[in-house]
Amino acid sequence: MKTLKILVTGASRGIGKAILTALEARGAAVVGHASTSAGGLVGADLRDPAAPQILWESALSRLGGQVDVLVNNAGLFSASPLDSSDIEWLDAWEETLAINLTAAAQLSRFAVRHWQERSSGGRIVHIASRAAYRGDSPEHWHYAAAKGGMVAMHKTIARQYAAQGILSYAICPGFTDTDMAGDYLASRGGPGLLADIPLGRVAAPEEIAAMAAFCALDAPPSMTGAVLDANGASYVR
Ligand SMILES: NC(=O)c1ccc[n+]([C@@H]2O[C@H](COP(=O)([O-])OP(=O)(O)OC[C@H]3O[C@@H](n4cnc5c(N)ncnc54)[C@H](OP(=O)(O)O)[C@@H]3O)[C@@H](O)[C@H]2O)c1
Repeated sequence: MKTLKILVTGASRGIGKAILTALEARGAAVVGHASTSAGGLVGADLRDPAAPQILWESALSRLGGQVDVLVNNAGLFSASPLDSSDIEWLDAWEETLAINLTAAAQLSRFAVRHWQERSSGGRIVHIASRAAYRGDSPEHWHYAAAKGGMVAMHKTIARQYAAQGILSYAICPGFTDTDMAGDYLASRGGPGLLADIPLGRVAAPEEIAAMAAFCALDAPPSMTGAVLDANGASYVR
């Protein structure tokens, strides 16, 4: 069977690292990415508008000129108080949008064009968030807006390129047990927040990774455009 070639962004820790591990366990050739290069990952700081292109070309070069699946996972969840200075609030907005949405869009564009040139088809898996649908805290307007934008972009890609075999899947985790959620849970009173989750616990990164591996490797083409929730029924649509 053909070895699938996959780029996973934000693979140094948390959900991205679990996705990389799950995909390698299934026999895929995976290039992981993080903000700096360490442990074999491609380093590219996605706050820099030039970084996605450098990352894409590095991944292509490491994978012999072909990428079959792109996993847009890298993300930043950083509080931006409403009463911070105007310029601080705007800087935080731009930083979160750059990492969580613009870079994912740039990489998705490179991927779609790559697959169109090769007439090969391909898959994109977007790690969005429950925040795309439910919204987020007063300090996270930017995060919710970026994830909502990611879901809208995903639906556009799915609808416009399905006929060319280019498929798009989105996953919306709720709180997941990573550094990102740990800081937030601590800042919002810790375990008290779990009362909002009928399952009684946050998700494990391996649960989200299992969903991402399914989307990357197994999901039927007819599922393109789907948005999969993983939030312990804390938000049911
Ligand atoms: N954890 C949750 O509760 C939760 C819930 C819903 C959605 N999500 C989404 O799931 C994805 C992964 O989250 P996580 O919890 O695993 O996060 P995490 O543990 O904080 O890891 C974030 C990853 O993104 C990378 N990254 C952050 N800023 C970057 C930048 N400027 N340039 C390049 N890479 C950057 C990090 O690389 P470095 O190690 O180099 O910083 C790291 O690999 C994100 O898109 C997040 O929004 C998470």
